[in-house]
Amino acid sequence: MPTLKDTYPLYLCNRAEQPNTDLEVTDKFTGEVAFKTALATPEIIDKAIAGTVRAAEPMARLASYRRKAVLMHCVERFRERFDELAYSLCVEAGKPIGDAEGEVTRLIDTFEIAAEESVRMGGEVMPLDISERAEGYQAIWKRVPVGPCSFISPFNFPLNLAAHKIAPALAVGCPFVLKPASKTPLGALIIGEILAETDLPEGAFSILPASRDGADLFTEDERLKLLSFTGSDTVGWALKAKAGKKKVVLELGGNAAVVIDHDADLDDACERVIKGTFYQSGQSCISVQRIVIHEDVYDDFREKLVAAAKDLKVGDPKKRETFIGPMIDDDEAERLESWIAEAVENGATVLCGGGRDGRLVEATLLENVDRSAKIVNEEAFGPVAVLMKFRDWDDALAEVNRSEFGLQAGIFTRDLFKVLDAWDRVDVGGLMVNEIPSYRVDNMPYGGVKNSGLGREGVRFSMEDMTEIRNMVIRR
Ligand code: SIN
Repeated sequence: MPTLKDTYPLYLCNRAEQPNTDLEVTDKFTGEVAFKTALATPEIIDKAIAGTVRAAEPMARLASYRRKAVLMHCVERFRERFDELAYSLCVEAGKPIGDAEGEVTRLIDTFEIAAEESVRMGGEVMPLDISERAEGYQAIWKRVPVGPCSFISPFNFPLNLAAHKIAPALAVGCPFVLKPASKTPLGALIIGEILAETDLPEGAFSILPASRDGADLFTEDERLKLLSFTGSDTVGWALKAKAGKKKVVLELGGNAAVVIDHDADLDDACERVIKGTFYQSGQSCISVQRIVIHEDVYDDFREKLVAAAKDLKVGDPKKRETFIGPMIDDDEAERLESWIAEAVENGATVLCGGGRDGRLVEATLLENVDRSAKIVNEEAFGPVAVLMKFRDWDDALAEVNRSEFGLQAGIFTRDLFKVLDAWDRVDVGGLMVNEIPSYRVDNMPYGGVKNSGLGREGVRFSMEDMTEIRNMVIRR
């Protein structure tokens, strides 16, 4: 089994620095301090931002084959350090080792996609002679990097959700400062260690764990031209209000619904829904929270789900058999427990689970939940889902849309008409057909509507956000 070091440095203007060891990061299963790292002071963050300003021009001029080489260096080093990366997620995020390995595989995909896209970013030639006044004119446009970027990444995918900001920035030539989540900074710091092996222009990147005070600079400093944040909706929208003239990309929460129609393959759907509800303790913005089941198959499907949920092993994320590891901290586990209790007080039936041992919350399924309960309407971000019954297709779609969020939704049906109908009518950023809303491949557009965010990630789509169109008009 790999081991972690006692201390890790932060990365300031491409270089490792250890100004202090003020941030203690715990093993989320044992609760013991696993390692220490530095907390960036406002002075350090200011230096990092000044570095991005200096690096903006050399980064913009970096030839695309050199950007690709940097990204491919990372891909190779991630492959070499695969076990260490997975283990670090297992410790700092409490992520079961199988899920942690899955995330490292996705990290490699994300950087590889960015390497490929980095040499493909073209523009367009447009004839402008659409009327007499423009005869002899044409336009040519290309994309240029927006300049210094500010990234704030969350605790639930410490590697891959940082990668969804870092890799497109490198692909287009934007320097950046990144603040990883204080509970899980290691994934991003290892990416920093690997980037420090490259010849990127000085100031091209800084990776800085920071306290909440320092974090304000990531949002408010006017030298930064784009803010990309992944995290809770409350924080995300508040940051947007303070971001001034920056472009803002927000990847926020959800309470995703999946619809199981009467003709669905129930065994297949059950396997997928169990995964989507409980993997990494439900701590994903697209984990299944509302399971909307046709009345003809409700009892059968409920029975299958409950049997499968009861089989899931809860416990030590370092053991291969564990499916559900700890939640990120005690507060989150207690919050979720209180939401389950609130639903039960108002008449909900617990079909399985409902218990908690410290940060470990059992796989919990509820039915007969009052529609106004927090566990239905707010983002649960834990291993809990609510079963609901529908009779008419329109009611199922109305249930999907009865949410302040709109990230992804899933439907299981064999009816092409219903698939196309849902694609037109569901108010989400992505519809998964015969798949759970929790499905994501790293090159696809990913993001939400309503409270779930603004803009899209998925490498090519982030690259578009991180660039501006610069047009040139030529008169013959
Ligand atoms: C998220 O929690 O927003 C990301 C989910 C994923 O990348 O699979």
